[in-house]
Amino acid sequence: MLFDEFVKENIKDFYDRRREMELLKNGIFECRRIILILGIRRIGKSSLIKVTLNHNKIPYIYIDVRSIYRQYNYISSYAIHYALESALNRLSKSSFWSKLLDYLKNIRGVSVMGVEVRFSESPQKIMMIMSQLFNVLNDWASDNRSKIALVFDEAQYLRYSKINFRSIIAYIYDNLPYITVILSGSEVGLLHDFLKVNDPRSELYGRYMYEIVLKRFNREQSIDFLYKGFQEYGIEPPVDIIEEAANAFGGIVGWLVYFGRLSVDRGLSREAIIETFIRGSKLVKEELFKLYERSPRYRYVLEAIAQGNTTWSSIKKYITARELKPIYDSALYEILLTLEKMGIVEKILEKGEIKYRIVDPVLQYAVTH
Ligand SMILES: Nc1ncnc2c1ncn2[C@@H]1O[C@H](COP(=O)(O)OP(=O)(O)O)[C@@H](O)[C@H]1O
Ligand SMILES: [Mg+2]
Repeated sequence: MLFDEFVKENIKDFYDRRREMELLKNGIFECRRIILILGIRRIGKSSLIKVTLNHNKIPYIYIDVRSIYRQYNYISSYAIHYALESALNRLSKSSFWSKLLDYLKNIRGVSVMGVEVRFSESPQKIMMIMSQLFNVLNDWASDNRSKIALVFDEAQYLRYSKINFRSIIAYIYDNLPYITVILSGSEVGLLHDFLKVNDPRSELYGRYMYEIVLKRFNREQSIDFLYKGFQEYGIEPPVDIIEEAANAFGGIVGWLVYFGRLSVDRGLSREAIIETFIRGSKLVKEELFKLYERSPRYRYVLEAIAQGNTTWSSIKKYITARELKPIYDSALYEILLTLEKMGIVEKILEKGEIKYRIVDPVLQYAVTH
C-alpha cells in the first residue's frame, strides 16, 4: 500500500522513482565503489535503497546509523557489533544466500550454530571481525558471481564513532570490488564534511563517489500519488482537498503518506491536512530541540525565516532584536551554513536577490507553533 508509513521494502508499495532505481541498480552492477543517496528527510532514500536491493535480489548488509545514534548518543562498537550480527543473520536466513554460512564459519571470532550467526569476540574487537568479514563477503559474492551492498543509512552520523569508518570504506574501495558501499544522507553537507573527499589528509581523498539525488515530487506527482493511494482503499477523494494537500506538503512524500494514512483512519477532510501539520511538527520538534540546545541562535534564525525575514539583512535585524546586541556576520554565516548543510534551510535566488527558505513546510510550521 502506498500509504504504509514504514520504510518501503516492496516495489508494489513504492510510487515511481523508477529512474533512480535504475541508476542505483546499474551503479551496483557496473561495480561503482561508493554510491551516495542524497536528499532531505522523508523524501524516500531508505525506501529507494531497500526496494531497489530487494527487487533486484541484491544481497545487502544494512546499518541504520541514525537509529544507533538515537539510542546511544554516539556510535558505539557495541551497537555496530550487534547491528552487523543481526544483518548477517537476516542475510543468511534468506534461502537465497544460505551458502554464506560456510564462508562465515572461517572467520575467527564468528561462530555458526545451525543457521544462527554469533560474534563470539567482545564488541571491542569488532574492528578485527569487520576486516575479515568484508573480505569473506567479497569472496562469497565473487564465487557466486553476485554483488553485495553494504549500506550505511544516514551515514553522516558515522562521525560520532570512534571506529574509523573512512578507512574501512577506503579499504573496501581499493581492495574489495564485489562490495558496493551505499551511503545515504539527509544532511548532505555534513555527509560531505565527514567523507572529506577533497582533503588530502582524508583516507577517502580523491575517491570517486557516484551521487543519486532524490528530489521532491512536483505538484502533478503529488496529486497522482494521493489519488492512487486513496484508490487502494476504494476512496474517491474530492479534487479540492487533494490539490490543497499537494500544495501544502511541498512534494515531500513522507508527509503525503502521513496525510493519506491519517485520512484513511479518521476520514478524509480538510482538517486532516492541518492535523498532519500538528502531529508532524511534534515529530520534527524533537529534532529541532536537539539543535536549539547547541545554540538558541538556531531557533532565532529559523524563527526569522519562518516569519518571512528571508534576506541576510532582515535575518540579522531579527536576531539583533532578539538578543539586544548585534551579531557578527561571521557568526550568522556559520549558523546559516550549518542549517544548509543539515538540509533544513536552502538558498534561492529571487529577482537577483539571495533569499533563505525553510525546506520542509512541516518543519516551518513547527518553528512557529
Ligand atoms: N516512492 C514512494 N512511494 C510511496 N511511499 C514512499 C515513497 N518514498 C518514500 N515513501 C514513504 O515516505 C516515508 C519516508 O520515506 P523514507 O524512505 O523513510 O525517507 P528518508 O529515508 O529519505 O527519510 C515513509 O513513510 C515511506 O513509506
Ligand atoms: Mg531514511
